[in-house]
Amino acid sequence: MRRATFEAWEAMAPGWERRREQIDEITAPVREWLVRELAPKPGDTILELAAGPGDTGFEVAALLGESGRLISSDFSPAMVDVGRRRASELGVRNVEHRVVDAERIELEDDSVDGVLCRFGYMLMPEPAAALAETRRVLRPGGRLALAVWREAERNPWVAIAGRLLVGRGRMPPPEPGAPGMFVLASEEHLRGLLDEAGFTDVRMEDVPVRFEYRDVDEWLSAANDTGGAFAKAWQEIPEEEQAAIKAELAVAFAPFAVDGSYELPGLALAAIAS
Ligand SMILES: C[S@@+](CC[C@H](N)C(=O)[O-])C[C@H]1O[C@@H](n2cnc3c(N)ncnc32)[C@H](O)[C@@H]1O
Repeated sequence: MRRATFEAWEAMAPGWERRREQIDEITAPVREWLVRELAPKPGDTILELAAGPGDTGFEVAALLGESGRLISSDFSPAMVDVGRRRASELGVRNVEHRVVDAERIELEDDSVDGVLCRFGYMLMPEPAAALAETRRVLRPGGRLALAVWREAERNPWVAIAGRLLVGRGRMPPPEPGAPGMFVLASEEHLRGLLDEAGFTDVRMEDVPVRFEYRDVDEWLSAANDTGGAFAKAWQEIPEEEQAAIKAELAVAFAPFAVDGSYELPGLALAAIAS
C-alpha cells in the first residue's frame, strides 16, 4: 500500500502544480490559521511535512528572517520539485527542500522549533508513527500546527462524487484502517493520537472553506488533476456512463448553486499542539 500511495502522489504532482493557485486560494483560511497559531519567530527552524506545492510553509518562511530556516519536505520527489519551483518563483531564500517520509524523519531529536502539516497525516498508513516522529524532532516546547479534513458529510465538495462512484461500483469503498481523507476526522481520535505521541497541550478548531466551480465540468477537471483515486476510477468509466454521472452530479450539486456557479462547502479540523 505504501508503494502504491507513493506512486500515486508522484503521478499527481503535475496536476497539483497546475492547480496550485486554485488550491491555495480555496484553502487560504486553513493556511492562515496554521501560520497564526504556529506563531513562528525570526531565527526559528520550521519543518513542513507533506508540503506538496509548499505555500503554507513559504508564508512561514517570510516570518523567519535570514537567520531562520524552513525545511519544506514531502515524500514525493516530484512534489518537492514543485515546491522548489514555487519557492524560486516567490524568491524564498531561507528554505531547504528535502525528500522526507513523515513516518521516518531523517532529522536529529529536538532539532526544530515548529512543524507544519496541512492535509497530510490522514493520508499516511501510520499516522501514529508520523506524530511520534514529529514529537521526536520538535524541541521541548516546540509546536505542531496541523490540519486534516472533517467527516465526509461535512465535505460535500469531495464526498458527493466519491459516494456516487462507490455506489456505482466504480470506486472501492474506503477500507477500514487504510489511509484516507476522512480517517482523522474525529476530534477525539486525533486528540488520542496526539496524546499518545507525547503532546500534552492541544487545542483544536474547525476551519470552514468553500470550493467554487463554474459547472460540473470544472469540478471534474479539478478532481482529475488532484484526486488520484478519483482520476484513476474516472478514466476507466465508458463515455456514456460518464455522461450519466455528470447529470447525477449536477442534480447533487444543485442545492449548492449560487449565481450560476456552485459553492461547495468543506470543513477542516485544525490543531495546535505542543
Ligand atoms: C493532500 S496533499 C497536501 C499538500 C499540501 N500540504 C497542501 O495542504 O496543499 C498531501 C501531500 O502529502 C504527501 N504525503 C503523503 N504521504 C506522505 C508521507 N508518508 N510523508 C511525507 N509526505 C507524504 C503527498 O505527496 C502530498 O504532497
